[in-house]
Amino acid sequence: MDEARIFITRKIPDEGLEVLRDADVGVTICQEDEEQGVPRASLLDGVRDCDVLLSLLTESVDRELLSANPRLLGVATMAVGYNNIDVAAATDLGIPVTNTPGVLTESTADLTWALILAVARRLPEAHNYMVAGRYRIWGPNLFLGEDVGPGASGQRKVLGIIGYGRIGQAVAKRAIGFDMDVLAYDPFSRDGIEASPHARWADLEDLLRTSDFVTLHPLLTPETHHMIGTEQLRMMKPSSYLINVARGPVVDEGALVEALSEGWIAGAGLDVYEDEPRMASGLAESPNAVLLPHIASASHDTRGMMANIAATNALAHLRREHAPNVVNPEVYASDAYRERTRGAGWVRGAD
Ligand code: DGY
Repeated sequence: MDEARIFITRKIPDEGLEVLRDADVGVTICQEDEEQGVPRASLLDGVRDCDVLLSLLTESVDRELLSANPRLLGVATMAVGYNNIDVAAATDLGIPVTNTPGVLTESTADLTWALILAVARRLPEAHNYMVAGRYRIWGPNLFLGEDVGPGASGQRKVLGIIGYGRIGQAVAKRAIGFDMDVLAYDPFSRDGIEASPHARWADLEDLLRTSDFVTLHPLLTPETHHMIGTEQLRMMKPSSYLINVARGPVVDEGALVEALSEGWIAGAGLDVYEDEPRMASGLAESPNAVLLPHIASASHDTRGMMANIAATNALAHLRREHAPNVVNPEVYASDAYRERTRGAGWVRGAD
């Protein structure tokens, strides 16, 4: 009798592996080297030979991959974003897909603020100056930046939040401490903003024209792809900053490089890129960009929780239970799902 098998594309934190160990299921980790991705051929082989796929945002889980195994019981991604997964194809094929919502809200909101402060107060430039041994004497003009709070003049700043889901709201809450006026726009829902004590609804153009800091938190969908391009960047104030911790393709990165070099905006803080891990030509050379390698959720606590939830979701798929964080719940009512999960136990061969 074959053992039930979860195929993990790349090494996840121990908190997830422990959940699987305690459940006594077979686990294959395809790529142990944390700096390497998974070759497509290995991904296809692994999926063909498993019951559940536990993947990361670095793998393209497309129709071909999902079709590779008629026994595949589910996909559990260790991320809240799932734009790398063809969810429509998964639903067609009767495969539930789960993500890890909620647990990374606070860490991601923290990192949004770290980027706001870092770019406005030029922290990376100042750090590089120190470690290069260039600090000789204090000076009144050394590394002048912009205030995020009201500063000496008492002028309140405007924070514009695009995408007002869990993370956008957590960013708004933190703005209270900076005495900011908070505007919010969401391409999918106005109600959440109107009910919020922390932000006021603005349409996209108003928000872009008025804000001193614009932060991006929408899901990547066809509607939000290149939501910020040349036209929108030109609407922003030359003194304003753009922060993206959502998904790279929400911003037209080529247009952003132009905006930074031509002074349409004052700076940008980015954690995500359009063609990750590559960056648009000219971005790395922009002195007014703070660039991070997609680490918004990278705290020990959060990544441990994400791994735990992804593993728990994977076990639910394996047990043919309705998983708590399923993004395509309609799949459970489909004939394709019934067909795929026909048979009892969660040990392959027991049915
Ligand atoms: C996600 O979960 O979607 C983040 O981008 C990585 O934590």
